[in-house]
Amino acid sequence: MIAVAGFNTAIDRFIHLDALNPGEVNRVRAERVYPGGKGLHVAQTIAALDERVQLVGLVDAQHRSLIGQRMSERGVQFHGVEIAGELRHCLALQDAAGKITEILGQGPLLAQSECDALLRDLRRSIHESDLVILSGSLPRGFAPTVYAELVQYAKNLGKRCLVDASGDAMRHAVGVKPFTIKPNRDEISELYGRAIDRLGSAADAARALHADGIALPVVSMGALGAVCADDDGVWHGVVELAHSRNSVGSGDCLLAGMAVGLKRGLSHEETLRLGVACGAANAMHEETGYVRRADVDALLPQVRLEQLGR
Ligand SMILES: Nc1ncnc2c1ncn2[C@@H]1O[C@H](COP(=O)(O)OP(=O)(O)OP(=O)(O)O)[C@@H](O)[C@H]1O
Ligand SMILES: [Mg+2]
Repeated sequence: MIAVAGFNTAIDRFIHLDALNPGEVNRVRAERVYPGGKGLHVAQTIAALDERVQLVGLVDAQHRSLIGQRMSERGVQFHGVEIAGELRHCLALQDAAGKITEILGQGPLLAQSECDALLRDLRRSIHESDLVILSGSLPRGFAPTVYAELVQYAKNLGKRCLVDASGDAMRHAVGVKPFTIKPNRDEISELYGRAIDRLGSAADAARALHADGIALPVVSMGALGAVCADDDGVWHGVVELAHSRNSVGSGDCLLAGMAVGLKRGLSHEETLRLGVACGAANAMHEETGYVRRADVDALLPQVRLEQLGR
């Protein structure tokens, strides 16, 4: 079993426009609504790979049945903590050229009792699981040290923890050395305070994070693929897509694939291969943060793995 903390559940609205013109009236051509949030993406992708997974996150009265039903159809055990307020809303606006503009809602401000309920459910899930994933932003109301405390909690129980976050929550978590962190280009640049936008500098950053005590850091670089570092050195994995439709959520799917690889005891490079295939499989379709098993299976042998020196 894999436990996922995806506290900040969102309602994602994907909107097609001819063009996005700021300051003008923009008419919607088509729209779809999906349950979202990074942890939810991770959990549903793990389930698509046929691993058992439980997700702890927020729901509100209006969306409880939509989210509960979707998670159950997709094979995720969902523990939804219902809040008095409204869930976060996120918009993705895609123009005719395929360019996507994201508008991410602030989300609810939680009462202490709501924070406590999420933490109680997550601790229970951690006890029942072999691997723990902390994914996405913390809802307002949580201290930024909460992920760090949860990493320590999981470590004390001998469980590996994978963290995908940004800002202060990530910085604190890095301090207690999770097994894996998965910064993207922007997040790794934020962590190091300088631009990391090439494979070489991403590899150096992964190497440095490993030397600093993070067993298997992964830095994701969009279409350039991802690098991970372990005791044997740095691996780069990449797969080229003929056509990318929506790569938002690819980082979540990469992390899901890596978690499944670790759970199955694959080598680190084969774990990276599965992650990279999942990240690319997500980009093949409009829906954010989900993969089809058949796409992942087809991409796996196409992933190019290369060791980038010691
Ligand atoms: N266009 C693409 N073609 C091939 N692979 C891709 C593409 N986009 C993403 N990937 C794969 O998915 C991985 C994760 O993507 P990315 O670095 O964009 O994550 P991210 O910025 O964290 O995304 P998000 O936070 O929206 O989930 C990449 O390292 C790469 O392996
Ligand atoms: Mg990301």
